[in-house]
Amino acid sequence: MDSAVDWYGAKALLEWYVELGVVDAVGDKAIDRYALADSSPKPARKAVPDPVATPVEPVRRNHGAEALTRAEAADSLEALAEAMRGFDGLELKRGARNFVFAEGNPEARVMIVGEAPGADEDRVGRPFVGRAGQLLDRMLAAIGLSRDHPDPGRSVYITNVLPWRPPANRTPTPDEAAIMLPFVRRHIALVDPDVLILMGNTPCGALLGRTGILRMRGTWTIAEDRAVMPMTHPAYLLRNPAAKREAWADLLEIQAKLRETA
Ligand code: URA
Repeated sequence: MDSAVDWYGAKALLEWYVELGVVDAVGDKAIDRYALADSSPKPARKAVPDPVATPVEPVRRNHGAEALTRAEAADSLEALAEAMRGFDGLELKRGARNFVFAEGNPEARVMIVGEAPGADEDRVGRPFVGRAGQLLDRMLAAIGLSRDHPDPGRSVYITNVLPWRPPANRTPTPDEAAIMLPFVRRHIALVDPDVLILMGNTPCGALLGRTGILRMRGTWTIAEDRAVMPMTHPAYLLRNPAAKREAWADLLEIQAKLRETA
């Protein structure tokens, strides 16, 4: 059935009804329930649950542990993509149109980890294709890097902490990032880049355990056994063009590191 209400709208509407005290779903035809009252069978008495045998709360799945098991079992990028695609530990997956895994040269010396797909990425199923992504491509081109170049020294590989778009493009929560972290770490290990660029606070929080990108940017650090450069997110640069100057300095740092370690 076609509906103007999407999954989040329908969920919010249901929650609102429950809040109002609605307990029955009604059909299109009115039913006189007073007339039915005498003829309807008495509901069976509910069995009183045994307080010892019945857990107070339903058992919750440990999504972080499941992510770790799936990630560790993935021995190739294809296997990792399938393991992530089949993972149901994040509710926001249900509101996303597409699974956005990664793009670029898997042999690249530089790997970029962003935050999560936005509306454009969700629509086409590729990372960083909207305005921020186009700016990122121009920034990379300025130091001779691109997604598609066959030479590992001149290409990049791009992914995000979350492969699904958060509703209304909100920032991923630390819990969501923590649940997906085993996948991100496995992704980095499989690509094995020399340099990791963390775009914005979400990947810094997940992989470095700290945020404050405006303080952290431009300073090399180590994580996942490799050199890491935190940078401001291109979406921030679109909103704050004056910050492009510092981003340019960070790009030159990356270029120098690649030359130094070639
Ligand atoms: N912002 C991100 O962090 N990632 C994308 O893929 C697009 C926008």
